Amino acid sequence: MTTKKETTLLEYYQEHGLNPVPIDVEDQTCWKEHVIKRRNLYEKHLMLPTVCFRDRSVIEFGCNSGENALYLAALGARLTLVEPNGQVLPRLRNLFERFGLDGRIEALVNTDIAGFEATQQYDVMLAEGFLSALAERDQAVLKLGSLVKPGGLGVISFDDRYGSLMELLRQMIFRRVRQLSGVEDPHGEQSLELAHGLFTEDFGRLNASRPFSAWWEDVLVSPFVSWKGLWCYHEMLALLERADCEFYSSSPRWVSVDNFTWYKNVTERHHRHERILEQWNSCFAYFLTGMMIDEGAIGPASVEVVESVDELIRLISDFVFSDDVLAAELHWPDLLDEYLGCCQAAGLKAVNSEIKRVFEAVQGDDLEKVRVGYQQTEILRNLWGTHGHYISFIKA
Ligand SMILES: C[S@@+](CC[C@H](N)C(=O)[O-])C[C@H]1O[C@@H](n2cnc3c(N)ncnc32)[C@H](O)[C@@H]1O
Repeated sequence: MTTKKETTLLEYYQEHGLNPVPIDVEDQTCWKEHVIKRRNLYEKHLMLPTVCFRDRSVIEFGCNSGENALYLAALGARLTLVEPNGQVLPRLRNLFERFGLDGRIEALVNTDIAGFEATQQYDVMLAEGFLSALAERDQAVLKLGSLVKPGGLGVISFDDRYGSLMELLRQMIFRRVRQLSGVEDPHGEQSLELAHGLFTEDFGRLNASRPFSAWWEDVLVSPFVSWKGLWCYHEMLALLERADCEFYSSSPRWVSVDNFTWYKNVTERHHRHERILEQWNSCFAYFLTGMMIDEGAIGPASVEVVESVDELIRLISDFVFSDDVLAAELHWPDLLDEYLGCCQAAGLKAVNSEIKRVFEAVQGDDLEKVRVGYQQTEILRNLWGTHGHYISFIKA
């Protein structure tokens, strides 16, 4: 079985010469767009005004070629940047010099989280876009938490297991199209061409910061977007507690347990986390699809429904990344079908029917039926789920 076990994320990037997020900040228009998106993430989603970074000691792990750190430098952060991929560092240095912000870098360390030797704690710690893929990810989060000063702030992102279902469905469709087209190498030119034919139009409607080819290699054929490379809030909140940290905010914003409550009614950390996780069940259909759903249109997901999605994700991952599962074995779970198909939200019911038709096509041997089966969907094509989540947290 071929899975990520032999290769780390870093090796994957280096072997494929892949800069996974080559954000274009070359001219003023691109730079402004980048700044607007980052500001929106911090201020509107994570509720962190820019003052949280001004003259603060900020450590960023996995900064890649530094475009996100550049924005923090422009806000006045004092940066420690940690990046194990030496291939991207020349671009990073060049970028900071061109913007006249190289003085904002206090340290640039070419190593990974495990290899980083801390001599101090930081006001703000950031780790974005890679944690879920690490074999030792729990230890990584605990170490990251230990680097935050008391009362300081951490921001991490992770690939959510349930939020990745729509991406996984695309992986499944793509794998079947490759099988039926005889394209074996997922990373070759022919694979990219096939992916273009299927998904370029849909991808073009996203406000993505990266080009199609980077998404293809970093998501569509990436062995890290599989069962093992995905995480969930239950695991994250438990880890935060072990690191003596408390959930503060997320992107997408879905937690509202503190709304309409009196601030004097203080909820103890563990209990507050439990309430957040209860709310998570009520948001399950949103997590899966990314669709806005009217309140009351669908009830909380039962444990059995959630488990049926767990099994589906394992099945799809094994189909995509090994030869252990045959197309004929792929099946949209009955419990999930019932949960989505019997709710009051017309959009959810419709997409549920679309997905069932896609599964029927994928189970068969007709290439055109798979291709057209996906491309004729009206809702599914425009759904991206909620693959990437950010959590900010405060150290006790
Ligand atoms: C998908 S990129 C994200 C880049 C940037 N943080 C962003 O969100 O746009 C992941 C980055 O994490 C780095 N990385 C991979 N494994 C790492 C590790 N164990 N410790 C620190 N960084 C790592 C990669 O080299 C890469 O630069």
